[in-house]
Amino acid sequence: MMSSSKLAQLCLTFCVAFLFCPSVHSHLQVGFYRNARRRTDSTVRDALRQDRGVASGLVRLRFHDCFVRTGGIDYDVPAGRRDGTVSLASQRLFPTYLPLPLMSINSLKDFQTRVSLKKKWLRTLSDAATENQVNVNVRNPMLLKSKFADAILKMSQLDLLTGEIRAILFCRSVQSHLQVGFYRNSCGRAESIVRGAVRDALRQDRGVAAGLVRLHFHDCFVRGCEGSVLLDSTSSNKAEKDSPANYPSLRGFEVIDDAKARLESECKGVVSCADILAFAARDSFDLTGGFDYDVQAGRRDGVVSLASETYSNLPPPTFNVDQLTRRFSEKGFTQEEMVTLSGAHTIGNSNCRSFTYRLYNFSGTNSQDPSLDFKYAASLRKSCPQDSTDPNLEVPMDTRTPTIIDVNYYKDILANRGLFSSDQILLTNPATASEVKSNARSPSGWKKKFAAAMVKMGQIEVLTGNKGEIRANCRVINS
Ligand SMILES: *[C@@H]1O[C@H](CO)[C@@H](O)[C@H](O)[C@H]1NC(C)=O
Repeated sequence: MMSSSKLAQLCLTFCVAFLFCPSVHSHLQVGFYRNARRRTDSTVRDALRQDRGVASGLVRLRFHDCFVRTGGIDYDVPAGRRDGTVSLASQRLFPTYLPLPLMSINSLKDFQTRVSLKKKWLRTLSDAATENQVNVNVRNPMLLKSKFADAILKMSQLDLLTGEIRAILFCRSVQSHLQVGFYRNSCGRAESIVRGAVRDALRQDRGVAAGLVRLHFHDCFVRGCEGSVLLDSTSSNKAEKDSPANYPSLRGFEVIDDAKARLESECKGVVSCADILAFAARDSFDLTGGFDYDVQAGRRDGVVSLASETYSNLPPPTFNVDQLTRRFSEKGFTQEEMVTLSGAHTIGNSNCRSFTYRLYNFSGTNSQDPSLDFKYAASLRKSCPQDSTDPNLEVPMDTRTPTIIDVNYYKDILANRGLFSSDQILLTNPATASEVKSNARSPSGWKKKFAAAMVKMGQIEVLTGNKGEIRANCRVINS
């Protein structure tokens, strides 16, 4: 059975969502049919007693007021939908509206984008078929069930009454249980201790600020913000940090270790590594950019870290605008937020390997990438010789102010001095080009947007409540 705390969590999820999205959710509420539920419930139960197979039929019919009892999981359904008055066979057959069994991966992806269903929910929904199987061969049936409940809830909010499937803004971001000042009572100095560790590290090397921002980003994009990027590989597992996407370019791990050690001696076993990382990224941004913002906390640490998962989740520096936009939207970001977050390249260094292909034989032309300023390319060739065997050669990403967070990154792009293709490419799309221009013009506007996007990023698929653990050492899971 679903534990009551989990139920309470799901309920809370929606209560919180209601608070923040009144316009979206105002018409649906848990307990809408409070007085009628008992009867609906028993009718459904009677039917299931006759034929349990009918359960999958009901799920398939999107009969959300039926409570899925056969899986041993219950969840509250916000109710109050009214019935539409139009039903056209043509609409049903048209693949725009319903995913068909023969759909290719690409059309499924399309469908997913159209209804804003997350990939994992889509996968979960296809698992409705397992309802009919004797053996549900999943490693974690509890997890599948709770994800299934999540997905069904999301699906039930599709607004069909306007004549097209329009996913109502789900406000996934506000459904987390993160809160500002989470450690106020349990470890009052937690945030200032982290800030102290970051300040000390920056005194040695200001470049580490970029490392910490990137570390948080790479943590959140793979398995959510649950500290998986901090875990070391073991003899039987290659962890995220050892994927080419992260190694050797990802840095700042020692700063997190230092902060964790300080926190463990002040309040043992209380502050998660994932939260430390979120605080440290904020502190890096503030200490080098002069812009502070509140960080919600309450994340817990995950116990899984797989190098293989970095490839499909992190955006490589070679992506074009469409690919970048898609990757960020998979994580819940708009294109504008994607451009805003790219501004993180305003500080820090990059390994030559990430861009040398632009300098020498670009697309087999025996020449440089034509979108790269000629003088800049010449200086990059000096720093990154074609025949170099040194894997650690680096250059600053922002040539004018490499250790200060500012909008020179955007000015560089406008001058064709964006280091990565994925930077320069932002000029090839009218919408992203106009974002680049407006960010270049408005330093404080960009910082505000960046802080907001970081807060949003810090909420990606977090573990809260009694999920995950509070690691004692950020590099290993508790035994
Ligand atoms: C440049 O790339 C093309 C196509 O990949 C290849 O045929 C050519 O040999 C390369 N030139 C050099 C100098 O490496």
